[in-house]
Amino acid sequence: MGIVASSFGHRVIMTDHNQDALSFARANALLNGISDLEIKELDWNRPEVKGTFDYIVGSEITYKEKYFQPFRSLFKTYLKDDGEVILASSIRKTSMELIRRMSDIFHIEAQKKNLRSQDIKISIMLCKMRFKK
Ligand SMILES: C[S@@+](CC[C@H](N)C(=O)[O-])C[C@H]1O[C@@H](n2cnc3c(N)ncnc32)[C@H](O)[C@@H]1O
Repeated sequence: MGIVASSFGHRVIMTDHNQDALSFARANALLNGISDLEIKELDWNRPEVKGTFDYIVGSEITYKEKYFQPFRSLFKTYLKDDGEVILASSIRKTSMELIRRMSDIFHIEAQKKNLRSQDIKISIMLCKMRFKK
Protein backbone atom coordinates (compact mmCIF):
# COMPACT_ATOMS: atom_id res chain seq x y z
CA MET A 1 0.00 0.00 0.00
CA GLY A 2 1.17 3.50 -0.62
CA ILE A 3 0.58 5.39 2.57
CA VAL A 4 -1.33 4.67 5.72
CA ALA A 5 -2.19 7.68 7.81
CA SER A 6 -3.53 6.96 11.24
CA SER A 7 -4.55 8.57 14.43
CA PHE A 8 -5.05 6.25 17.43
CA GLY A 9 -8.63 6.14 18.60
CA HIS A 10 -9.79 8.22 15.66
CA ARG A 11 -9.45 7.84 11.92
CA VAL A 12 -7.32 5.18 10.31
CA ILE A 13 -6.97 5.62 6.56
CA MET A 14 -5.22 3.38 4.09
CA THR A 15 -4.47 4.97 0.72
CA ASP A 16 -3.10 4.18 -2.71
CA HIS A 17 -3.68 5.65 -6.16
CA ASN A 18 -4.00 2.29 -7.87
CA GLN A 19 -7.56 0.88 -8.12
CA ASP A 20 -6.42 -2.76 -7.98
CA ALA A 21 -4.38 -2.07 -4.85
CA LEU A 22 -7.44 -0.42 -3.29
CA SER A 23 -9.66 -3.39 -4.21
CA PHE A 24 -7.17 -5.83 -2.66
CA ALA A 25 -7.00 -3.69 0.48
CA ARG A 26 -10.82 -3.67 0.74
CA ALA A 27 -10.98 -7.45 0.25
CA ASN A 28 -8.22 -7.95 2.80
CA ALA A 29 -9.98 -5.74 5.36
CA LEU A 30 -13.23 -7.66 4.78
CA LEU A 31 -11.53 -11.05 5.16
CA ASN A 32 -9.96 -9.95 8.41
CA GLY A 33 -13.15 -8.39 9.82
CA ILE A 34 -11.69 -4.87 9.88
CA SER A 35 -14.56 -2.42 9.55
CA ASP A 36 -13.16 0.80 11.01
CA LEU A 37 -10.60 1.39 8.27
CA GLU A 38 -11.17 4.01 5.57
CA ILE A 39 -9.65 2.89 2.28
CA LYS A 40 -9.30 5.82 -0.09
CA GLU A 41 -7.75 6.81 -3.37
CA LEU A 42 -4.88 9.25 -2.84
CA ASP A 43 -2.21 10.37 -5.27
CA TRP A 44 0.97 11.58 -3.57
CA ASN A 45 1.15 14.36 -6.17
CA ARG A 46 -2.38 15.64 -5.46
CA PRO A 47 -3.44 14.48 -1.97
CA GLU A 48 -6.98 15.47 -1.06
CA VAL A 49 -7.54 13.92 2.36
CA LYS A 50 -8.81 16.21 5.12
CA GLY A 51 -7.22 16.42 8.58
CA THR A 52 -3.88 15.94 10.24
CA PHE A 53 -2.53 12.70 11.66
CA ASP A 54 -0.45 11.30 14.51
CA TYR A 55 1.23 8.76 12.25
CA ILE A 56 1.92 8.47 8.56
CA VAL A 57 3.17 5.00 7.66
CA GLY A 58 4.55 3.85 4.32
CA SER A 59 6.03 0.58 3.12
CA GLU A 60 8.23 0.36 0.02
CA ILE A 61 7.47 3.85 -1.21
CA THR A 62 10.99 5.30 -1.25
CA TYR A 63 12.07 3.87 -4.57
CA LYS A 64 11.80 6.95 -6.85
CA GLU A 65 13.38 10.34 -6.19
CA LYS A 66 10.64 12.08 -8.18
CA TYR A 67 8.28 11.41 -5.25
CA PHE A 68 10.48 12.99 -2.59
CA GLN A 69 9.13 16.52 -3.10
CA PRO A 70 5.48 15.30 -3.03
CA PHE A 71 6.27 13.30 0.15
CA ARG A 72 7.83 16.34 1.76
CA SER A 73 4.79 18.44 1.02
CA LEU A 74 2.41 15.63 2.06
CA PHE A 75 4.20 15.10 5.39
CA LYS A 76 4.22 18.85 6.08
CA THR A 77 0.51 19.10 5.31
CA TYR A 78 -0.79 16.00 7.08
CA LEU A 79 1.55 15.20 9.97
CA LYS A 80 0.68 16.73 13.34
CA ASP A 81 3.45 18.84 14.88
CA ASP A 82 4.32 16.04 17.32
CA GLY A 83 3.42 13.21 14.90
CA GLU A 84 5.70 10.58 13.39
CA VAL A 85 6.36 9.31 9.90
CA ILE A 86 7.33 5.63 9.83
CA LEU A 87 8.78 4.22 6.63
CA ALA A 88 9.87 0.65 5.94
CA SER A 89 11.84 -0.17 2.83
CA SER A 90 14.48 -2.36 1.30
CA ILE A 91 17.94 -1.01 1.93
CA ARG A 92 18.57 0.91 -1.26
CA LYS A 93 20.29 4.07 -2.43
CA THR A 94 17.06 6.04 -2.82
CA SER A 95 16.02 5.29 0.79
CA MET A 96 19.31 6.80 2.00
CA GLU A 97 18.80 9.78 -0.31
CA LEU A 98 15.30 10.37 1.12
CA ILE A 99 16.80 10.56 4.61
CA ARG A 100 19.40 13.05 3.41
CA ARG A 101 16.76 15.26 1.76
CA MET A 102 14.37 15.21 4.75
CA SER A 103 16.98 15.79 7.43
CA ASP A 104 16.67 19.59 7.32
CA ILE A 105 13.14 19.51 8.76
CA PHE A 106 13.03 16.10 10.49
CA HIS A 107 14.89 14.35 13.27
CA ILE A 108 15.44 10.93 11.72
CA GLU A 109 16.19 7.57 13.33
CA ALA A 110 17.04 4.83 10.85
CA GLN A 111 17.64 1.21 11.81
CA LYS A 112 18.43 -1.95 9.89
CA LYS A 113 16.07 -4.79 10.83
CA ASN A 114 16.40 -8.45 9.92
CA LEU A 115 13.13 -10.22 9.14
CA ARG A 116 13.11 -13.98 9.04
CA SER A 117 10.58 -16.64 8.03
CA GLN A 118 11.19 -20.39 7.94
CA ASP A 119 12.69 -20.13 4.48
CA ILE A 120 14.09 -16.66 3.98
CA LYS A 121 15.80 -13.85 5.75
CA ILE A 122 15.65 -10.27 4.50
CA SER A 123 17.02 -6.99 5.77
CA ILE A 124 14.96 -3.83 5.71
CA MET A 125 15.43 -0.27 6.80
CA LEU A 126 13.00 1.17 9.34
CA CYS A 127 12.99 4.93 9.43
CA LYS A 128 11.19 7.17 11.96
CA MET A 129 10.93 10.91 11.38
CA ARG A 130 9.70 13.69 13.67
CA PHE A 131 9.65 17.41 12.96
CA LYS A 132 12.61 19.35 14.32
CA LYS A 133 11.34 21.91 16.85
C1 LIG B 1 6.43 -0.94 -4.35
S1 LIG B 1 4.70 -0.82 -4.07
C2 LIG B 1 4.64 -1.14 -2.34
C3 LIG B 1 3.40 -1.88 -1.99
C4 LIG B 1 3.25 -2.22 -0.50
N1 LIG B 1 3.20 -1.02 0.32
C5 LIG B 1 4.33 -3.13 -0.01
O1 LIG B 1 5.06 -2.76 0.91
O2 LIG B 1 4.46 -4.22 -0.58
C6 LIG B 1 4.40 0.91 -4.20
C7 LIG B 1 2.96 1.31 -3.96
O3 LIG B 1 2.87 2.72 -4.11
C8 LIG B 1 1.74 3.04 -4.90
N2 LIG B 1 1.98 4.30 -5.60
C9 LIG B 1 2.84 4.53 -6.62
N3 LIG B 1 2.77 5.80 -7.04
C10 LIG B 1 1.82 6.40 -6.26
C11 LIG B 1 1.28 7.73 -6.22
N4 LIG B 1 1.68 8.68 -7.06
N5 LIG B 1 0.34 8.00 -5.29
C12 LIG B 1 -0.09 7.03 -4.43
N6 LIG B 1 0.38 5.75 -4.41
C13 LIG B 1 1.32 5.45 -5.34
C14 LIG B 1 1.59 1.86 -5.85
O4 LIG B 1 0.29 1.77 -6.38
C15 LIG B 1 1.98 0.70 -4.95
O5 LIG B 1 0.87 0.19 -4.24
